[in-house]
Amino acid sequence: MKRTGAIKKASARIPASREAGAEQALITSELRYRRLFETAQDGILILNAETGLINDVNPYLIYMLGYSREEFVEKKLWEVGAFKDVEASRHAFEELQKNEFIRYDDMPLKTKDGRLVQVEFVSNVYLVGDEKVIQCNIRDISDRKRAEAALKAKEEAHWSLIENLPVGVVVHSPDTRIVLCNPEAALVLGMSSDSLLGKAARDPDWHFVREDGTRMPLDEFPVCQVIATGQVLKNFVMGIVRGRNGEHTWVLVNAYPEFGSGERLRQVVVMFTDISNIKLAEEKIQRNLEHLTALVEIDRAINFSFELNLSLTTLLTHVIVQSGVDAADVLLFNPASRKLEYVAGRGFHTNAIEHARQPLGEGYAGRAAQERTIVHIPDLAKEHDSFLRGILLAGEDFVGYYGVPLIAKGQVMGVLEVFQRTPLVRDEEWLDFLKALAAQAAIAIDNVTLFDNLQRSNAELAHAYDATIEGWARALELRDNETEGHTQRSADLTVRLARLFGLSEAELVQVRWGALLHDIGKMGIPDGILLKHDALTEAEWVVMRKHPVFAFEMLSPIRYLRLALDIPCAHHEKWDGTGYPLGLKGEQIPLAARIFAVVDVWDALRSDRHYHASWPVEKVREHLRSLAGTHFDPHVVNRCLDSDVLRE
Ligand code: C2E
Ligand code: SIN
Ligand code: SIN
Ligand code: FE
Ligand code: FE
Repeated sequence: MKRTGAIKKASARIPASREAGAEQALITSELRYRRLFETAQDGILILNAETGLINDVNPYLIYMLGYSREEFVEKKLWEVGAFKDVEASRHAFEELQKNEFIRYDDMPLKTKDGRLVQVEFVSNVYLVGDEKVIQCNIRDISDRKRAEAALKAKEEAHWSLIENLPVGVVVHSPDTRIVLCNPEAALVLGMSSDSLLGKAARDPDWHFVREDGTRMPLDEFPVCQVIATGQVLKNFVMGIVRGRNGEHTWVLVNAYPEFGSGERLRQVVVMFTDISNIKLAEEKIQRNLEHLTALVEIDRAINFSFELNLSLTTLLTHVIVQSGVDAADVLLFNPASRKLEYVAGRGFHTNAIEHARQPLGEGYAGRAAQERTIVHIPDLAKEHDSFLRGILLAGEDFVGYYGVPLIAKGQVMGVLEVFQRTPLVRDEEWLDFLKALAAQAAIAIDNVTLFDNLQRSNAELAHAYDATIEGWARALELRDNETEGHTQRSADLTVRLARLFGLSEAELVQVRWGALLHDIGKMGIPDGILLKHDALTEAEWVVMRKHPVFAFEMLSPIRYLRLALDIPCAHHEKWDGTGYPLGLKGEQIPLAARIFAVVDVWDALRSDRHYHASWPVEKVREHLRSLAGTHFDPHVVNRCLDSDVLRE
């Protein structure tokens, strides 16, 4: 059109020039026109408007259509081979005769060798002097058409690929309105493609959340970020929340701007992939890690603490935090009462739970323990466990309940109970974690119970030994014809004196037993010797002197009395080495025996014996002191006499 306009302008100047009579100007103008005609890269035909005959054709049209000049000139348009089949050409000519201007955007012409050429056909009518001429400009647009068709095909192929991609693709115009979207995008956004088209970013059919779960402001939307920065947005993670149920779809977003001419933003392409499953897996891994950490911490707490309550309180804290319940407790099975009894709890508003005493098989906890199974009660209010109902009445408002048996080494140790004040449905993974915590609790209880049992058995054993030994001592008194309680008294004196020499409490227990049993060897001495009122013969002494050896033989198999043996075996050894049965000397004699020897003689002389009457206190004390360094360890006997123990 421009070109046509230019020609019209040029031709309009021709009569003006002629009128001016400027010959040279005319020549110049015609030459210029001619050159344009000859060199144009469009085909040009000049027709006589009256006759419709072609009177000129330019070289480019000859080149374009393959017909010779002769095949154009003096022919009507539709008589030229190229235009023969073109209905429009006759019509065009008729139109041209009526109108000054006509244009066909897409006219198909045939070349001499039979190819089809798409042309843009523009005609103008104007006067050259008195002559009315038609000029047709014919531009080959085949290449452009082919390129357009190829582009269209390419775009179609492209789009069909995008249509089928498992990636959401949304194209926004620069005002954020959606101009295109693929089915996956519609699926993820939860709307039909039709209803998505035309929506702007601020239209609130959904909202986006950041990775941390907080609501995303409009300026962080991917399309808005790309518009603001003009940059590609890569690997942006966000959640899409649709409707009221608040369900998140996590997506990975990539978006880029497309610019038209002059760096003007043409559109923004946003692509997103649904990564909800990956996100879920990630969360699961994170949760597992937290669970594992909790288990390790609990394990540490258990191993470093023999105090059951402390271990279990640590454990219950983890139970509440990690499994997200409101309260938790541990009931311990007491084999004596056959009941489950409260030991530790966290998260309770009241202390009602501390009175928990569930017989095995009764109530949820009792059932969990007896059947060795997890008891799950979704709604406690609908159930009939009278104890738990009592707790509910006490104002705990629990709804959900789990009772998990605590089993270690095949034994039910107790029950872990968790309580929730809202009815939440938990998944398999949660239950597995609860089971792991229960296993930890069972181990904690088992560890501590073992320790307790050991201590208890020690105490029980000690008690049993004490009773046995005192019984023996009484029997010995009876056989030896002594006053009841005399052995007890000398054992007490021995302990009091031994304490002066810094023996520990554990050693004093053994010293006491040793003192009580010091003459147990006399059980092996015949009555005829033991109860004799006169002095002993030499032969009788030989027997009598065996009583420390008999003591060793009687007591040494009893592990428990190993340390108590010193006194029964060595109480007749003397400091100067003249004692019996071994003739030990000085510090070869155990300290306990050296101490006891003093008490033994003190006691023998202060009492009435079959073979002598009792001595007065001062005589005994003088006698004992006189034996320092021969019979007794001088340090020991003096220390004993200087104390206030041997005074009456
Ligand atoms: P026992 O009666 O418990 O005496 C313990 C120790 O106290 C005696 O050890 C001795 O060191 C001292 N002791 C007891 N009575 C006297 C005493 O009258 N004078 C003096 N100086 N020391 C006395 P020992 O001598 O090795 O005797 C061991 C056990 O032999 C006595 O235990 C007692 O059961 C028995 N025994 C000792 N002497 C006689 C005796 O003359 N007649 C009889 N029937 N038994 C005797
Ligand atoms: C709870 O977590 O709500 C307790 C157990 C349940 O009812 O799922
Ligand atoms: C005995 O009487 O000797 C037996 C107990 C004691 O007195 O030491
Ligand atoms: Fe003795
Ligand atoms: Fe004695």
